[in-house]
Amino acid sequence: MNQDGVDKGRRRFLTATTAVVGGVGAVFAAVPFLSSWQPSARAQAAGAPVQADISKLEPGQRINVEWRGRPVWIVRRTEDMLARLSELEGVLRDPNSEVETQQPTYAQNPHRSIKPEILVVIGICTHLGCSPVYRPEVGAADLGGDWPGGFFCPCHGSKFDMAGRVFSGVPAPTNLEVPPYYYIDENTILVGEDEGAA
Ligand code: FES
Repeated sequence: MNQDGVDKGRRRFLTATTAVVGGVGAVFAAVPFLSSWQPSARAQAAGAPVQADISKLEPGQRINVEWRGRPVWIVRRTEDMLARLSELEGVLRDPNSEVETQQPTYAQNPHRSIKPEILVVIGICTHLGCSPVYRPEVGAADLGGDWPGGFFCPCHGSKFDMAGRVFSGVPAPTNLEVPPYYYIDENTILVGEDEGAA
């Protein structure tokens, strides 16, 4: 009699537990549906990494991808462009990329990039945030004749070389910023994340 009472009580408890689990299960079932679309909007706002395909990028060309609402330029530099980088130290404010905020450590080198030929840089002037213009033409007359090729900010005249290094004597205080990035494979760059960070 007493035993029956215990069993009934246990059954009631088990029934109640099952009902609660069923309720929780329904909530869990709803969450994956919501999370299949919510994080992408949230992730975009928070700056999810973006992939860039550089397989069709010719020497001297630039492509633009957007990361965190900012333009990120990817340039395949030519041999000449790379050779000129070492000739400019005397006219640059931070030729050795010593301002640590402006690039990850793997881009703190003479070409400011993982692979020498591929530059990845945020296309926003470090003076007041205008977007500089890509001016790869060496000796462009409107930029002084001794122009080595690089980026020119039309807002107040700041100049950057083909590694995004700022010239001395212009309003911009620092080199263009290199974002975190890595190579997923030979032709695909993930912009916005360091390798192994995921
Ligand atoms: S915003 Fe580029 S020089 Fe002022």
